Amino acid sequence: DGFSAVKLFNQGYSYTYDDVIFLPHYIDFPTDAVSLFSSFSRNLKLSTPCVASPMDTVTESSMATAMASLGAIGIVHSNNTSSEQAFLVRAAKSYRIPFSSDLIFLSSSDSILSEDFFNSSPCAFVTESGNRQSKFLGIVSRSDWEALGDKEVRVSDYMRKSPVQFLPNGCNVEHVAGFLAKETHELVPLVSSDCTDEGQTIKGFPKLGFPSVGPDGKFLVGAAIGTRESDKVRLDHLVKAGVNAVVLDSSQGNSIYQLEMIKYIKRTYPDLDVIGGNVVTMRQAENLISAGVDGLRVGMGSGSICTTQEVCAVGRGQATAVYKVSSFAAQQGIPVIADGGISNSGHIVKALVLGASTVMMGSFLAGSTEAPGTYHDQNGVRVKKYRGMGSLEAMTKGSDARYLGDTAKLKIAQGVVGAVADKGSVLKFIPYTMQAVKQGFQDLGASSVQSAHDLLRSGTLRLEVRTGAAQVEGGVHGLVSYEKRSF
Ligand code: XMP
Repeated sequence: DGFSAVKLFNQGYSYTYDDVIFLPHYIDFPTDAVSLFSSFSRNLKLSTPCVASPMDTVTESSMATAMASLGAIGIVHSNNTSSEQAFLVRAAKSYRIPFSSDLIFLSSSDSILSEDFFNSSPCAFVTESGNRQSKFLGIVSRSDWEALGDKEVRVSDYMRKSPVQFLPNGCNVEHVAGFLAKETHELVPLVSSDCTDEGQTIKGFPKLGFPSVGPDGKFLVGAAIGTRESDKVRLDHLVKAGVNAVVLDSSQGNSIYQLEMIKYIKRTYPDLDVIGGNVVTMRQAENLISAGVDGLRVGMGSGSICTTQEVCAVGRGQATAVYKVSSFAAQQGIPVIADGGISNSGHIVKALVLGASTVMMGSFLAGSTEAPGTYHDQNGVRVKKYRGMGSLEAMTKGSDARYLGDTAKLKIAQGVVGAVADKGSVLKFIPYTMQAVKQGFQDLGASSVQSAHDLLRSGTLRLEVRTGAAQVEGGVHGLVSYEKRSF
């Protein structure tokens, strides 16, 4: 039934994600048993296999912070001066778990009549006489209060009574996040050792897996650089800002410029992980791996704003590119980032199962609250700007190195400027998307990214190519209208 990946991808066609479909396998575990822990690079692991693309309409400090707090990672773009970029990295890394020190107290006979009572705090502390100095009795969280039918009920009837679990004030980000994820709590009071009846409350921490924290105890943050001499100075600034990985940003990574840069970085900063790319063939990958990369970025012309394939006649269908490069890179122990062309959770399942360890996304994240820029109205739709780094507009600001690589004077655009609809916060829609990805894995009988790779390579997982009509049938069709948002 169906084809093995080896057979399907060796027939001379360049397939995109939409061209291929997996056949369902056997389920013997629940969705929640699926783990999406994966490697971003040789030395960096993520609990959420997502990467925010180094584009100036996608990743600056708020995106990098949000991605790290979700267990993913953001790569800060380099369409700025080196000190601006280092500032953005430092800002993202210095961010701590959101917490509130503005405490609210009340007594158990009080009622909370309006949401305003909470101000911006996620909870209030109940004490015997309703103030900080008296005995601690419990907690009322905003979500408990919101769930109440009758808002006049006294807090004694629904508060979480003591003993409420505390953590000591001063424990590190990793410890707090691990506790919240394990206990499925949305907040935990931190108390200093000499007092147990007051403390600081941490605002909700995303419950999805573990945040990405580096050996320095701070959020993992990556940054992009180019391959010019001036990028060595840029890199020095970034290393001083504590960057955890650097991505060599080029649309065709198999170049003498990049090979030399990789060797320079590995010589100068042996502990810094370097991602090379972009590549789409095994031969390209082999060169970068020999030069010492710790990860590969795969994709050429598959991005939503890309015109490289049309302008230069070079590239590869993303499903084929991911499969081919991953099968080679896996033998060398190098993780692959599937970059571009992700527009739904199914594409993420396909990228990960075909061999990638993580997916890099631009348009999927660009309309979020955390993306740079402001919302504006376009024909009644709230949108944010999203532009290719090879668009004339972005290149005019300085990103031309990615698309020229050398000293060419005439700028040829390889990308467009557009807009994407408001998607809300990544803190909400990434967990939702990951749950959908887990369901895809469950249907395939794969309980982890590694087991998906093993099932594909052993030929146990089977695929087929979809005809144009099958693709239409696989999407919503035959309705006059429908509600697209599902969360
Ligand atoms: P998505 O599909 O996620 O793609 O929006 C994001 C990826 O597209 C690449 N990129 C470009 N490719 N011209 C291109 O050919 C461009 O102007 C351009 N800008 C970004 C990049 O790899 C990114 O991660």
